[in-house]
Amino acid sequence: MRSEACKVPTFLVTGSNGQVGFELRRSLAPLGRVVALDRADCDLLRTSDLRRIVRAVRPDVLVNPAAYTAVDKAESDIDVAYAVNGTAVGVLAEEAKSLGCLLVHYSTDYVFDGRKESAYVESDPVNPESAYGKSKLAGEDAIAAVGGTALVIRTSWVAGAHGSNFAKTMLRLAQEREHLRVVADQFGAPTTAALIADVTAQIVARHWLFADRDAFASGLYHLVASGETNWHEYATAVLAYAAAKGVVLRSDPAHIEPIPASAYPLPAPRPANSRLDTSKLRETFGIHLPDWHQGVQYLVDQILS
Ligand SMILES: NC(=O)c1ccc[n+]([C@@H]2O[C@H](COP(=O)([O-])OP(=O)(O)OC[C@H]3O[C@@H](n4cnc5c(N)ncnc54)[C@H](OP(=O)(O)O)[C@@H]3O)[C@@H](O)[C@H]2O)c1
Repeated sequence: MRSEACKVPTFLVTGSNGQVGFELRRSLAPLGRVVALDRADCDLLRTSDLRRIVRAVRPDVLVNPAAYTAVDKAESDIDVAYAVNGTAVGVLAEEAKSLGCLLVHYSTDYVFDGRKESAYVESDPVNPESAYGKSKLAGEDAIAAVGGTALVIRTSWVAGAHGSNFAKTMLRLAQEREHLRVVADQFGAPTTAALIADVTAQIVARHWLFADRDAFASGLYHLVASGETNWHEYATAVLAYAAAKGVVLRSDPAHIEPIPASAYPLPAPRPANSRLDTSKLRETFGIHLPDWHQGVQYLVDQILS
């Protein structure tokens, strides 16, 4: 008979076809058995099925990167955004608590209004201005209300080779158009889905699977790449690196027009300041967060490969 110490851990990952979900399939694989379910296999809107699936899989770690992420559509689809980002998260928290497993969940800079002058820390007051931000805050609140063991990771400006994101859009537009205009007065840190997944795996391995579980530092953490930039500078970095790698662009990366956010109105307001202070995550879990430029190079290399 195998001892408990030799038992292969099981991970249940929702939203496995999303940017972060896709990378979690890779980063968690060396740690144990990964049951990765996409929306067709595990729809967060069907909460009774959700409970049944979690109880059947009985994971050691329940990882939830699935979310309603259509930020602008959420403004007119509020009920569904809340159901996925709020209600279903509460259901997952309840199931994780009753199984005694760790819940890993992801949240967003959109819980803040972006008016702070410096980077946000976890204890800063929240004040989401978009329906998406409010629905994601409902998810954070639901986890706190249930009170099990949970790692809630707020991140920002996520991009992965698998999925849709700003970097891919810029690469496409720069090949189609001669002139690009990009917002230059919103600040944050581009963060690759791979970094988020790798840090998740590191924390889970070092502080949950092979550690004293009673000592796990449950709570809310900010996770973004180091450094900061704006969308215009980010676009320039993506396109300059792609051009250096031989991609033929119609737009010159050095001549992207910087514009204010007010010149590019969208249905959902974006925080002007999306900078997240990561001290708590680095100090609690001993994690090194590389500079965002490194992520840009990794991402573009992945997209071009
Ligand atoms: N993307 C960003 O810039 C960003 C920034 C800050 C925080 N976050 C947070 O980071 C996490 C991961 O984001 P991401 O960029 O990986 O998002 P993503 O690429 O949009 O992936 C989200 C996944 O959730 C799935 N999903 C949507 N509704 C669902 C439902 N009812 N049931 C089951 N699955 C459903 C989607 O399925 P389909 O593939 O079928 O659509 C998609 O695969 C989310 O919590 C998000 O809020 C993201």
